[in-house]
Amino acid sequence: MTHVIETHHLTKAYGLLKAVDKLDITVETGEIFGLLGPNGAGKTTAISMLCTILKPTSGTATVNGFDIVKEANKVRRSIGIVFQEPSIDDRLTGRENLYMHANLYGVPASEQKERINRVLKLVELEDRADDLLRTYSGGMRRRLEIGRGLIHYPKVLFLDEPTVGLDPQTRDHIWKYIRQLKEAEDVTVVLTTHYMDEADRLSDRIAIMDHGKIVILDSPPKLKETLEGDVVEVKSNNLDALSELVTKFLGLDKKKTVEDTLEITVRNGKAVMPRIMELATHNNIYVESIVLREPNLEDVFLHYTGKTIREDSGKELHGMAAIQRRTIK
Ligand SMILES: Nc1ncnc2c1ncn2[C@@H]1O[C@H](COP(=O)(O)OP(=O)(O)O)[C@@H](O)[C@H]1O
Ligand SMILES: [Mg+2]
Repeated sequence: MTHVIETHHLTKAYGLLKAVDKLDITVETGEIFGLLGPNGAGKTTAISMLCTILKPTSGTATVNGFDIVKEANKVRRSIGIVFQEPSIDDRLTGRENLYMHANLYGVPASEQKERINRVLKLVELEDRADDLLRTYSGGMRRRLEIGRGLIHYPKVLFLDEPTVGLDPQTRDHIWKYIRQLKEAEDVTVVLTTHYMDEADRLSDRIAIMDHGKIVILDSPPKLKETLEGDVVEVKSNNLDALSELVTKFLGLDKKKTVEDTLEITVRNGKAVMPRIMELATHNNIYVESIVLREPNLEDVFLHYTGKTIREDSGKELHGMAAIQRRTIK
């Protein structure tokens, strides 16, 4: 049995820049596979090649057994795509949008009504199906787009940053639908995100990407286990000084400052905590609190790349998506 997706040295270069650099991944049937990385990591480029929107510079890949270059049409017919840039028609109702897409993708007329009802139910838009799209909220639109991506019974659904620009509650909702897809539609999901919590809660496996390459790939629990340690969080009135001291005297350099907290990844948190306290006291630094927690994906990313995923990394996405949207037409 071949994998749903297989890539071999899949590469996309723009001049000297390798947006995606020798990507080798396999995605199994029925899994939710997350591509996680900061803005510019190459996530959209990678997923766009798999969707046949972009041609690779070198390397190969198959989706549902079809070659993404030689059998692009077959790939397209077997996948659903939900990209950030809104591509649904405002002047139509939700239901009309779905009919349009069903026709476009050749869903048999006799099946369309039932299929559309099922999809509307799945994304909980039955009540609003006959309202014009321009009356929908951002979250409802995204749900309709997800529904639309499913209309033609795709075997794989590709979602590029499915929750960018949505409020936390709506994001939670979208996550719920994506998880439901697996059971309800028997579909494999490949998604990109720069949100750690999103990747963590949604994905069966995550490939962390940076500079076009996969840094590490595994299930979220396994990724965290690889850190073999704890995170110590320290709140203090002089974080900069404390940060310097723990590196100088305790040799701790896996650390980052998040707002007013210094987060240090260490092998044995319980043993290190008193030593940090001691160091602070000795240097007249007031420690407001010090706590131990399990590592999260942010820590994993920091560990393997030496940097944090930038807070603002979602902002440029719309421009990039807009460019790619234009290349489809
Ligand atoms: N059409 C293009 N021309 C030149 N550079 C591009 C183009 N598309 C993307 N890039 C560059 O490739 C890299 C990866 O971009 P992208 O795949 O959009 O990253 P991500 O989706 O992870 O934010 C970035 O450095 C981006 O600037
Ligand atoms: Mg992107």
